[in-house]
Amino acid sequence: LASNPRNTPASGGAVPLAEVDIRTSIRPTVATIDLGAIQRNFVRLRQMVGAGPAIWSVIKADAYGHGAVAVARALESLSSALAVSLVEEGLELRAAGVRAPIVVLGAAFNRHQNEVLEERLTPVVYDPGDLDRFAAAATKRGRPAAIHIKVDTGMSRLGVSTAELPALLDRVEELPGVTLAGLCTHFASADMPDSAPTDEALARFAPCLGLASRRWPGTLTNHAANTAAAVRFPKTRLDAIRPGLALYGTVPSPHVSVPGLEPALRLSTRIMATHEIDAGTAVSYGGIWRAARPSRIATLPLGYADGYPRHVHAAEVLVRGTRVPIVGVVCMDMFMIDVTDVPGAGVGDAVTLIGQDGAQRITVEDLAGWAGTVSYEILCGISKRVPRVYLNSSTTAPPSQPPASSP
Ligand SMILES: Cc1ncc(COP(=O)(O)O)c(C=O)c1O
Repeated sequence: LASNPRNTPASGGAVPLAEVDIRTSIRPTVATIDLGAIQRNFVRLRQMVGAGPAIWSVIKADAYGHGAVAVARALESLSSALAVSLVEEGLELRAAGVRAPIVVLGAAFNRHQNEVLEERLTPVVYDPGDLDRFAAAATKRGRPAAIHIKVDTGMSRLGVSTAELPALLDRVEELPGVTLAGLCTHFASADMPDSAPTDEALARFAPCLGLASRRWPGTLTNHAANTAAAVRFPKTRLDAIRPGLALYGTVPSPHVSVPGLEPALRLSTRIMATHEIDAGTAVSYGGIWRAARPSRIATLPLGYADGYPRHVHAAEVLVRGTRVPIVGVVCMDMFMIDVTDVPGAGVGDAVTLIGQDGAQRITVEDLAGWAGTVSYEILCGISKRVPRVYLNSSTTAPPSQPPASSP
């Protein structure tokens, strides 16, 4: 970071090591996270979906690589609930003092129903055995457990089938230890151009909602929509929406648009070495890339061990506000770029892998495109070796009032 003189080789570095954070002050590779941008993205989503549905902020997978605890703290006063995939992720948040309602979407509970209830995590269940175990654990604790039931409406991943749902609802009614808090589903194709699969999934879900609401009138919080569904299919918003990706300032596909989103993560480093090479000289493992002209090659201190994808094609980074190409294969800890056309580029120069430099910007979608993957994988893949530095951007847009309904 520019504000940290230890990251600038020219500084001379006289600060005793004990006084600095060695994770950010030796190697200059950092992910800078703007928590204010995440809060403002929440508010943009709220404006888009209106005051109706509750918003449960999805912060699974370490908040898509942004740091779950920091993001939870930034979002807990705005969100009606937070949503994670794993029990372990919920426990991490509780251990850090996060008090907001937390929904566990992934539904892998093994034999840990008691811990889930003890830590006030709200389980999503689809398995009759789990239902019985939650009922038994809750009965022992002397307080019924509020659970959500997941219905498979076409993704074939998790959830009870629509045919099996009535029997599972019967079971909920029979068990004194559990109460139904809501029904949910997940859409497989809400970000695709064809709206038919989402319409069909919703059509399958609608009778399930009808059945449950006849048995539990007026008490359920039903939810289905991820970012894409919440934005593109207003009918899917139901009582609560579960957006993840848009909070981090990006969209799942070009068919999903949320005006004004701000990317919350910037990935940057500095040039650690340069080489003047002749035409024909090979760069990196396998010698696959060779210079077509006399070239100035710069080495960057990050690689696939940091989550920068190895299989990128025609990828670029920004140096001195200029787009420059990656050359040769990405190594575990380093990769090389061609700075021949950037006058004066040298050791210590800032390099932007994701983010803005002058008039140029590299988005996470750009990098995902070069790597043949999706933005989700790029963000989640930035490894723990890359320190997350949080911008103290408390300049939040006015908090939107969370609706009363929570899990
Ligand atoms: C069950 C569930 N709900 C919501 C989300 C959030 O999706 P998105 O990040 O596309 O908004 C996910 C993410 O994959 C999910 O698995």
